[in-house]
Amino acid sequence: MVAYLLAYAVAVRNQDGGARGAHAKASEAANARRGSCDFEDLLSDLPQVFVTRRLPGDALARLSERAQLTVWEGTGAPEPSDLLNGAQDADGLLCLLTDRVDAAFLERCPRLRVISSCSVGVDHIDLVAATARGIPIGHTPGVLAQTTADFSFALLLAAARHVVAADRFVREGGWTWGHRWDPEGFLGVDVYGATLGVVGLGEVGRALATRARGFGMRVLGWSRRRREIEGVERVEFDALIERSDFVTLHVALTPETRGLIDRATVLRMRSGAVLVNASRGGIVDEAAVAASLRSGHLAAAGFDVFRDEPIAPDNPLLAAPNIVLTPHIGSASVSTRARMADLAVENLLAGLDGRPLPHCANGS
Ligand code: DGY
Repeated sequence: MVAYLLAYAVAVRNQDGGARGAHAKASEAANARRGSCDFEDLLSDLPQVFVTRRLPGDALARLSERAQLTVWEGTGAPEPSDLLNGAQDADGLLCLLTDRVDAAFLERCPRLRVISSCSVGVDHIDLVAATARGIPIGHTPGVLAQTTADFSFALLLAAARHVVAADRFVREGGWTWGHRWDPEGFLGVDVYGATLGVVGLGEVGRALATRARGFGMRVLGWSRRRREIEGVERVEFDALIERSDFVTLHVALTPETRGLIDRATVLRMRSGAVLVNASRGGIVDEAAVAASLRSGHLAAAGFDVFRDEPIAPDNPLLAAPNIVLTPHIGSASVSTRARMADLAVENLLAGLDGRPLPHCANGS
C-alpha cells in the first residue's frame, strides 16, 4: 500500500510539475486510504532523486517505491540550468548521456550521493571530479552490446550498398522507365569476402566480429588490452588501418581515443574502404572523413555518433557523399532500452543505500 501511495505521489508530482501540490494531493489520498498516517513525513524520509527523462519499461515505477522522484517533463533533454535546478537538492541523479556533469555542476549539488547514467558511455561525466567527491557513477554495460552490434552492422551494410540513397531515389521518382535496371546504378562494395578491422574488442566489438564472420568476412582486431578473440586476427593498429576494407569503431571516448582516427589515419586507410562509427564522435576527425568521401578515397561511411550532438548544421559530413547518418540510435531497441533503465535504477538504489554499485564506472 505504501508503495502504491508513493507511486501515486510521484505520478501527481509529474502531472503538476510541482512538489507542493503533489504532496497535498498525495496526503489527501493517503488520508482517505490510511486514516491518520502522516504521508508528508513518510515522503520526507525518502531520498530525493532527479530523473532527467522518462524511461521505457517499469524501472521508474520501481524506483518511485524507494525515492521521491522528480522526473523532467520538458520537451527533450533538460538545459544545463534545468539539470542544475533539478539536481541541486537531490540525493541521487539518474541521467542520460545528454546531461553534462562536470566539476562545477557537482560543486553546486552538495547532497548528491550517487549518479546513475542510463548509458554505458560516461564521457559526459567528469569521473575524476565525482571520485574526488566520493560520488559513485553507475552505468549500464552488458545489456546493449548485441543491439549496438546489430545496428553497427546495419550501418555497415547500408553504407556499403547505398541502401539509403537507393530508397531516396525510389521515393523521389528517380526510378523511371529509362532507369528501370541500370547496370551502373548504385554500385556498392562487397561485404562477403572483405576484410573487416574492428577497433576495440570490448563487448560490442566482439559481438560485431561474430556477425562479420557469419557474413564471410575475414576479421582483424585491435584493442589496447591486446585481447585474443577466437576467429579474430589480432594486429597492431596501423596494420588494421592499412589492411582493412571496412573499419568499424568500438572504443569508449577517453583522452587516449579522442582523435584516434585523425586525418593521417584516414589517408592511410585503403582506397575504397568503408568506415563505420557507432561509438563516439570525438574519436574521428569528421572533416578528414568528409574530405576523403568527397575525393573518393573512402568509398562510403556509416556514422551514428558525432563530435557535437545533435549534429551541427555546418558539420561537413552532412554535405559529404556516400555516408549514412543516424541520430545516435545504436542501442535503440525496446527491450534493450528497458534493460538499460533497469540497470540504471539498480545502480541508483545501491548508491542511495550506500551499497557498492552493480556497475560502477569510477570504481568507488
Ligand atoms: C551508451 O549507452 O553509451 C550508448 O552510446 C547509447 O546508445
